[in-house]
Amino acid sequence: MRKLAIVNYKGGTGKTSTVVNMAHGLALKGKRVLVIDTDPQGSAGYYLGVESEVTIYDVVMGLRPVSECIVSARPNLDIICSNERLFPAEMRLANEKGREHVLMRRLSELKGYDFVLVDCAPSMNLMNQNSLIFSDELVLPVSMEYLSLVGIKQLLKNIDIVNKLLGKEIRICKVVPTFYDKRNKKTTHIMDSLERVFPGMLSSPIRVSVGLSEAPGYRQTIFEFSPRSSAADDYRRLINEVISHG
Ligand SMILES: Nc1ncnc2c1ncn2[C@@H]1O[C@H](COP(=O)(O)OP(=O)(O)OP(=O)(O)O)[C@@H](O)[C@H]1O
Ligand SMILES: [Mg+2]
Repeated sequence: MRKLAIVNYKGGTGKTSTVVNMAHGLALKGKRVLVIDTDPQGSAGYYLGVESEVTIYDVVMGLRPVSECIVSARPNLDIICSNERLFPAEMRLANEKGREHVLMRRLSELKGYDFVLVDCAPSMNLMNQNSLIFSDELVLPVSMEYLSLVGIKQLLKNIDIVNKLLGKEIRICKVVPTFYDKRNKKTTHIMDSLERVFPGMLSSPIRVSVGLSEAPGYRQTIFEFSPRSSAADDYRRLINEVISHG
């Protein structure tokens, strides 16, 4: 079971789009996939058109067994949803012993999945720290914006701290260039910076695509909304790279 967190402290870099489309693409390849949304915005469930009374809140607070919080989104694809109730949970977590390990402890009985993909909030909060510690690998979507690089630098520092303090070895699986537009000079410049900081770790890019911005409105993944689009091709390529990285 590979456990990947999709994270960048900067907002709007394509984290949720990457989680949902990677998850569905993997499921279509016959992999058993679980999405865990740890962002109170609850976008992953919205994107997949799934609502649930029981959420990650119940997992974190230990109110229900994990198996009761999992709902089916597509064949081979399950999700633990999130919503704004997670905000107060975050405050209560702060008082718990071993507060960074709560998610890992509660999810320890999880089994039967090939991939677990964690959708993270764009913030440096305790819930996010829990998501990092639960995961073994990170996928870092970086949009072709200078501020996206700032989010990644902060994250790299934090990964170092987590690895040292907790004796963990969280690996970076892929750095994913998103909102890629090769006609734009800024894209070239940011790609150069990324290649310097992450030699050999960059995946093939996810191009800017109208389909990707429209698909969530129809509660469809790109493989449902526009399976022959360049965006679907980009996510298929990324999925193959992530599979062979494992
Ligand atoms: N490659 C792309 N081309 C065009 N639009 C995209 C692309 N990827 C994502 N989008 C759109 O950009 C917006 C932000 O994407 P997304 O929600 O995946 O980012 P996020 O990093 O999860 O945001 P947040 O930090 O708020 O959780 C969404 O409306 C999404 O549909
Ligand atoms: Mg998101």
